[in-house]
Amino acid sequence: MAELVVRAVLALIAVAVAAGFLFYRARWSRYKLPPGPKPRLFVGNLLDVTAVRFKCFEQWAKVYGPVMSVWMGATLNVVVSSAEGAKEVLKDKDQSLAARARSRAAAKFSRDGQDLIWADYGPHYVKVRKVCNVELFTPKRLEALRPIRQDEVSAMVHKIHRDAPKGPVNPKKYLSAMAFNNITRLAFGKRFVDDEGKIDSQGVEFKEVIGQGMKLGASLKISEHIPSIRWMFPLQNEEFAKHGARRDTLTRTIMKEHAALRETLGPQSHFVDALLGLQKQYDLSETTIIGLLWDMVTAGMDTVAITVEWALAELIRNPEVQRKAQEELDAVVGDETVLTEAHFSKLPYLTALTKESLRLHPPTPLMLPHKCTEDVKIQGYDIPKGTVVHCNIYVIARDPAVWKEPLAFRPERFLEQDVDIKGHDFRLLPFGAGRRVCPGAQLGLNMVQLMIGRLLHQFSWSPPEGVRAEDISLEERSGIVTYMAKSLEAVATPRLPQALYARNV
Ligand code: HEM
Repeated sequence: MAELVVRAVLALIAVAVAAGFLFYRARWSRYKLPPGPKPRLFVGNLLDVTAVRFKCFEQWAKVYGPVMSVWMGATLNVVVSSAEGAKEVLKDKDQSLAARARSRAAAKFSRDGQDLIWADYGPHYVKVRKVCNVELFTPKRLEALRPIRQDEVSAMVHKIHRDAPKGPVNPKKYLSAMAFNNITRLAFGKRFVDDEGKIDSQGVEFKEVIGQGMKLGASLKISEHIPSIRWMFPLQNEEFAKHGARRDTLTRTIMKEHAALRETLGPQSHFVDALLGLQKQYDLSETTIIGLLWDMVTAGMDTVAITVEWALAELIRNPEVQRKAQEELDAVVGDETVLTEAHFSKLPYLTALTKESLRLHPPTPLMLPHKCTEDVKIQGYDIPKGTVVHCNIYVIARDPAVWKEPLAFRPERFLEQDVDIKGHDFRLLPFGAGRRVCPGAQLGLNMVQLMIGRLLHQFSWSPPEGVRAEDISLEERSGIVTYMAKSLEAVATPRLPQALYARNV
């Protein structure tokens, strides 16, 4: 009898699986989907995707073409690896492809998209984006925040100068500290770290909230992509709730401090102050203000530090480019003062080398995931509603059909032809394009260019003794943002008078 029951249950399961499979086939067979690697039952291509996803997609695109289907478990992902395809996604069909695919962690962190980064395209998004475009990232506000950027870059140069005589430095350490101080001052109007590098209790809390968020975000793994097994891997709801509450308490305290300061000092330029001032006018909930402030930290910190680390690695590997950039800086800025953003318009080679760095090493090689809200066609293929769409901007910017000597670090290419980098030329999209283009693009560019320029003007960069420049590895680490797999070690030799390395220069 028991055997009969077991057999009946097994037969039922087999029928259910077969019916599910047929239903599934029937659902997708009416579409002309882009080609791609053969998916396995349940897991799709999940087990075949290697850790550095955009590199894996680069290899697959060579086999399946520039518009490719990749099944992440039960979810269809389409990866676009050509400038024409990206133009269709980000411009021509932009309206249907401007939603976001949120993991369960992203949904928790953003309270189901009540921020900007993880908001779906709709009235909330349009409102918050307007706040960014016409209030937060205006040329006037960026100009008002300029002294903060300059001060933080000076503090970074000062520390490198202090440490350089001891031996090779690890630039990432200084770049990350600079990016942290800069973004917290910009967004929250606070520097949590004193001149000696000692962090205060609010800063410790801030870093712990970031660290805890990263841990929670990384804890979801494979079940994220296969809804039918999620019940076996429940979310750590309590941990997420604790993290959210901790983040909110910290942010509310800072907001209160600002509200009090506004009474005495009047409005300031920092984002927290601006948002508090705009809260009524734009009907912004407290959740949205907190979400937006943390969006800026998430999006504006690593991206900048990563870009400059890659630029330094390329400059050490390409001493001729380094020499040319220094010649230009010496001619324009001289040796009696330091570089400021006001010099930028007279430094075409520095601008070109910043672009070249972002071309070869975009910090978010797959941008952020877009989600399709209605059936559309891209390059003749069907993209059904619900598909997650990625543009592989890393591959597009190295396409030999578009770029001469695509793998060479050759800033001169941008002197030979003027290529826009902020979303108007689909061959080069480090900031994305269209409705969801990075709102911090100009700020990011200013920061990156100032950091690279000052580091080059004030130091010569070379490999540590015994390491050949060409042996510096250009391998990437996995993740949404792409750090160097092996963080750079370099010798920084000062090249300007001592007085120009003070923080208050
Ligand atoms: C080198 C520096 C930077 C690079 C390369 C970069 C790149 C990007 C990219 C590729 C996206 C996704 C676009 C898309 O999904 O279509 C993005 C989004 C975003 N970035 Fe940046 N970014 C940088 C710096 C910054 C800075 C400094 C901030 C703010 C302080 C910032 C704020 C944002 C925000 C809020 C979004 C989400 C926009 C949305 O979903 O509508 N970024 N960025």
